[in-house]
Amino acid sequence: MNRRSKLELTWIGKENRPKLEPRILIEDPDLSYHAPHRVSEEDIFDNRLIFGDNLLALKALEQEFTGKVKCIYIDPPYNTGSAFELYDDGIEHSVWLSLMRDRLMLLRRLLTKDGSLWTSIDDTEYPYLRVLLDEIFGRPNFVTTVIWEKRKTRENRRVFSFKHDYVVVYALEKKGFEAVRNPLPLSEEVLSRYKNPDDDPRGRWQSISALAQAGHGTKSQFYTLVAPNGTEHHLPEGNCWRYTQERMNEAIAEGRIWFGKSGTNVPRIKKYLGETGDSGLTPETIWYADDVGTTDTAKKHSLQLFADAIVFETPKPEELMHRILLIASNPGDLVLDSFAGSGTTGAVAHKMGRRWIMVELEETCHTHIIPRLKKVIDGEDTGGVTESTEWKGGGGFRYYRLGPSLLEKDCYGNWVISKEFNPAMLAEAVCKLEGFVYAPSDEVYWQHGQSTETDFIYVTTQTMTHEMLEQLSDEVGEKRSLVVYCAAFRANQAAFANLTLKKIPKTVLKKCEWGHDDYSLEIKNLPQAPPEPTPEEDEGPKAMRSLFDEGSVE
Ligand SMILES: C[S@@+](CC[C@H](N)C(=O)[O-])C[C@H]1O[C@@H](n2cnc3c(N)ncnc32)[C@H](O)[C@@H]1O
Repeated sequence: MNRRSKLELTWIGKENRPKLEPRILIEDPDLSYHAPHRVSEEDIFDNRLIFGDNLLALKALEQEFTGKVKCIYIDPPYNTGSAFELYDDGIEHSVWLSLMRDRLMLLRRLLTKDGSLWTSIDDTEYPYLRVLLDEIFGRPNFVTTVIWEKRKTRENRRVFSFKHDYVVVYALEKKGFEAVRNPLPLSEEVLSRYKNPDDDPRGRWQSISALAQAGHGTKSQFYTLVAPNGTEHHLPEGNCWRYTQERMNEAIAEGRIWFGKSGTNVPRIKKYLGETGDSGLTPETIWYADDVGTTDTAKKHSLQLFADAIVFETPKPEELMHRILLIASNPGDLVLDSFAGSGTTGAVAHKMGRRWIMVELEETCHTHIIPRLKKVIDGEDTGGVTESTEWKGGGGFRYYRLGPSLLEKDCYGNWVISKEFNPAMLAEAVCKLEGFVYAPSDEVYWQHGQSTETDFIYVTTQTMTHEMLEQLSDEVGEKRSLVVYCAAFRANQAAFANLTLKKIPKTVLKKCEWGHDDYSLEIKNLPQAPPEPTPEEDEGPKAMRSLFDEGSVE
């Protein structure tokens, strides 16, 4: 019997959790791109496109972006085909669950208190993803599952024609999300109900009944209403007026009661656009292709954008992303997609004035995402939501690669600082590893970063002598403290109360896994099956075992 009492999903390798190295991100200015001039005051330039495995990328973002992302959308591999031909389904399913668990846990940390995570998925893993997300976010923070009609045509070659995908929505804190969730804009049909036949300066209105049920009324709601032209209106049986006489007279004086063009009709109350709760529509859970597009719509847009590139197999339509971002974010908010594909999320976020971060591991980062965003920035992408967002171009993004691992093995098998690191990179990497904000000072050579106003970090590959530390200690003074990371030191540490001395790489060796560049869905990352139970572990009564075991006992 399992000693754990909580309900949970288990899989092979669930207990293996990678100890991730917080890598630095290195900008490649040749691949970053900005509009040559401002198009509007709202232009956003500091968006980020990161090329590399998203697990390491999310870890790299953790320090700076914890609690800062308003809306995360991910469209991970659905785990449909077989990625590992020689392995059975259970292993493949387990790899997928581990891959998702590790990433989802990091993603959750990035969300603002009112933030939400939206995940596209199909039938294959939907139920497992729900249980996994329940474990990570907590069941009360499940918001909904949206059904998206991803195709309109029938697929006759299959037993069922799969017409929909799911988008599963969780909030970091459901109440926080509910408080900021935006309604959808009013449909044309609702808008057409608002008119302005009397040129009311307050704008378009529709009328509602001025009557209420008598049973709910107080004494002051029973009276004969006299219209401005003197017509008397008597209450029908079983009704009272919605307003007291005093309030009704005020409303009549303000022109808020409608007696028809003739002025003699039964009085009705004018409700202005935005006053009736009609300021927007509550989003529903079935999203139709006619409203948010299909996979085909997205492919057509793809073809228009990159005529020469291979068409991306499963892009999402911009209209779908537009709806998600409308509901879950506002202009200026930060949006993140760590399975960027052809870059739909970033393109739509850009057109909607949201800041964005995208991560992509494959070459599509260069063949699809960069050219697409350049077109968006240059105002040359006329498809998708360009028209509905009135996008004209502008802004930009910075392109980053993941930095190398800080440590590598030398020819004797010892961990040493990687030769790829220059002093600035080293200082930044150690700051990140040790939880200091990297902020090198131009004036003070030993201030590479800080954890509080008075606590600083200095990273150097030198061997620190007593004299060097003495000088450093004097400069730091009594009111500040400094952690010194150095290759070695020849001094009595106790002599300097304001300094803490640490050796690199020795002090950081156990912090995380070094030199591990690939955490993606690859055969070499497969989990190990747990060892066969020993006879002692396996000695439950035969009758009981036969109830719980899959194979027969005898
Ligand atoms: C289904 S596609 C996303 C499509 C995207 N929504 C669009 O509209 O273009 C999934 C993407 O995730 C990327 N991906 C898969 N594993 C990844 C990983 N470990 N790190 C970063 N990207 C990854 C794949 O390369 C693929 O481009």
